[in-house]
Amino acid sequence: MFETLNCYLVGGAVRDELLGRPVHDRDWVVVGSTVEEMLRLGFVQVGKDFPVFLHPITHEEYALARTERKQGVGHTGFVVDAHPSVTLRQDLKRRDLTVNAIAKSVDGILFDPYGGQQDLQAKCLRHVSAAFGEDPLRVFRVARFAAQLVGFRVAQSTLNIMSAMTEAGELESLSAQRVWVEFEKALAAPNPQEFIAILKRCGGLEPWLVELNDVPAKFSSGSSVDRFVQLQMPLQNIETLCNRLKCPGRFQQAATDYSAYAETVTRWREVDPQQLLDTLLALRVNHASARLEALARVVSSIRDVDVAEVLILAKEFGGLALASEPGMKGLQGKAFGQALRALQLQWLTTYLSR
Ligand code: CTP
Repeated sequence: MFETLNCYLVGGAVRDELLGRPVHDRDWVVVGSTVEEMLRLGFVQVGKDFPVFLHPITHEEYALARTERKQGVGHTGFVVDAHPSVTLRQDLKRRDLTVNAIAKSVDGILFDPYGGQQDLQAKCLRHVSAAFGEDPLRVFRVARFAAQLVGFRVAQSTLNIMSAMTEAGELESLSAQRVWVEFEKALAAPNPQEFIAILKRCGGLEPWLVELNDVPAKFSSGSSVDRFVQLQMPLQNIETLCNRLKCPGRFQQAATDYSAYAETVTRWREVDPQQLLDTLLALRVNHASARLEALARVVSSIRDVDVAEVLILAKEFGGLALASEPGMKGLQGKAFGQALRALQLQWLTTYLSR
């Protein structure tokens, strides 16, 4: 019953298929149809600002072909026209990059009016039209694609538009959440440093990511959380950046742990047992080892040291039942705490002298 619809696969799915990369989401554009027809065919409308539907069986996204014209400030404020007369070429023209503006018919025929395949070949991220400048999120998207698509560069003409957008203060209107999504994708990408480098070149670290202005330009492998830690930001910058971006707590926790405890964990054999004890307790190794394990992993990735032995120490420490030692009987409150700490210190000192 869907044969009546004139559908094309578009965006990232076509781009990634042509690049031989795994395809995650498949987005479709429907030409010549109406909201009424889509609903009649059983599609479920999900778009608030423009007509986007979910396929009743595959749940893939189908959007009516549309044109957009910016009216207000920032990411929203678009006048959308999704009349059935809007052509595929018009729909592709409002998209960000030529490599994202290739459509594929259900028969497998590519429709590529803006030279996307040529730019894929040349590994070039190039805007489709002046409409690029209407959506400030695209500054971050381009930087993120540069991190994800190895060997791709950004066309100078596109960088010029990005610079003009940042200079005009357009990035301020974005939400923290949208910026964070792009940043996190870049952190998980093969070349996170490209994200930072491209943003630096167009002035795009202001106002959201200013703390990245002086971070090391090198990343090693790891999750997006590990990569966030590898930025090695000072405590104050971690806090400011995380508050501004409202990033998930695990990122802030991991980066803070590194900033505060990496040194002790690296030199655990030489540090004062008091300091080692404070660190173990702060990392709550007596409850669970996950925080220390994450820290140890990222310490090895940044400092190229083997901290496996501190995990063995922490495991033994976590398994101690010092509170039920005979000397602890009858103690309460402050006295209990002091006696427990003395036992813990004694145990650590003996362990370290082995
Ligand atoms: N698009 C755009 N401008 C945006 C967001 C999206 O022009 N700010 C267009 C692009 O054509 C893009 C398509 O909508 O390819 C789908 O967007 P999205 O799913 O967000 O990204 P993908 O390009 O598919 O890439 P990925 O899924 O890897 O994020």
